[in-house]
Amino acid sequence: MTALTSALAAPEVLDRCRALVRPALEEAVGRLHPWVAEMAGYAFGWCEVGGAPAKASGGKGVRQALAVLGAEAAGAPGRAGVPAAVAVELVHTFSLLHDDIMDGDPARRRRPTVWKAYGTGPAVLAGDGLFALAVETLAVTSAGPEALRLLSVALGDLVRGQADDLLFAGRPWTGPGRVRPGEYRALAEHKTGSLLGGAAALGARLGGAPPTVVSALDRAGRHLGIAFQVVDDVLGIWGDPAVTGKPVHGDLRERKKTFPVLAALDAPCPAAGRLAVVLESGGDLAQAAALIEEAGGREAALAEARRHIAAVEAVLADAPLAAGASDELRALLEFLVRRDL
Ligand code: IPE
Ligand code: MG
Ligand code: MG
Repeated sequence: MTALTSALAAPEVLDRCRALVRPALEEAVGRLHPWVAEMAGYAFGWCEVGGAPAKASGGKGVRQALAVLGAEAAGAPGRAGVPAAVAVELVHTFSLLHDDIMDGDPARRRRPTVWKAYGTGPAVLAGDGLFALAVETLAVTSAGPEALRLLSVALGDLVRGQADDLLFAGRPWTGPGRVRPGEYRALAEHKTGSLLGGAAALGARLGGAPPTVVSALDRAGRHLGIAFQVVDDVLGIWGDPAVTGKPVHGDLRERKKTFPVLAALDAPCPAAGRLAVVLESGGDLAQAAALIEEAGGREAALAEARRHIAAVEAVLADAPLAAGASDELRALLEFLVRRDL
């Protein structure tokens, strides 16, 4: 990852895009039923339960930045991508509200999740409200039908990824029913990559980019999603809890089918067999982590991430993109996948 260099600090890109998008996002959320708007505001990190201004901060806003940069990459001003940015942030937040219910997760960004704070039914409803707003936001743009098609494809793939995520949890570690690394790759592309790619593609479309550029940015975002997810997996096993904010060996404890584990189990070496025994017997997590490393799972995951980062860079280099936006896209890429590796 050290090969990635950029003169621009990605967080500045994120700040700039967040500031550009925030008024339109607030205006959209303000059109919801007040109770639903409060839940949405809570999910965005704008307010606490009851509506008081938030003490916590919200998400990074990666998707909205990709949408703004997509428009700029097409040579348009960033504001041309704002409806795309609003739509993808709404859909992302909607997917997180429902994901936290599906995963039974009580906390996100160090606060109770929306379903924990407001109840499951209300959280489902808030997600639905955000989705409706996203559709409306794109429908009234000049690229209405095409923009809605891009969003629907991204969301359809996200649902596909979420379905596999739920199903993979019930599959065995070994034997014919085991999850293969290729299946994981598809899951990561669908679950995470589709909306990252969709964000950049939608922004580019609203910025007037030709179809080849729109689909190139979609492809770049999909590779970025896989790289991001694989890096997340590595950090989930070997990351410093002080940096990741997640418990050590958390993914192993939850028996998640992450890339390093799947790659290690597939390796033709004795450590792979010993790892299977440890995982199937629910054995020692530190020993499992050591065996994953011994079987080459960590190195395979880093190589996988590097391959997808290289694919993003190749797509960006090949597409006719405005130089400034292209540099900022690279800066964002570096920021997202560097994370202490
Ligand atoms: C959430 O996936 C991604 C989507 C909502 C599509 P995860 O369940 O793996 O991620 P976190 O840990 O809850 O953010
Ligand atoms: Mg989740
Ligand atoms: Mg999930």
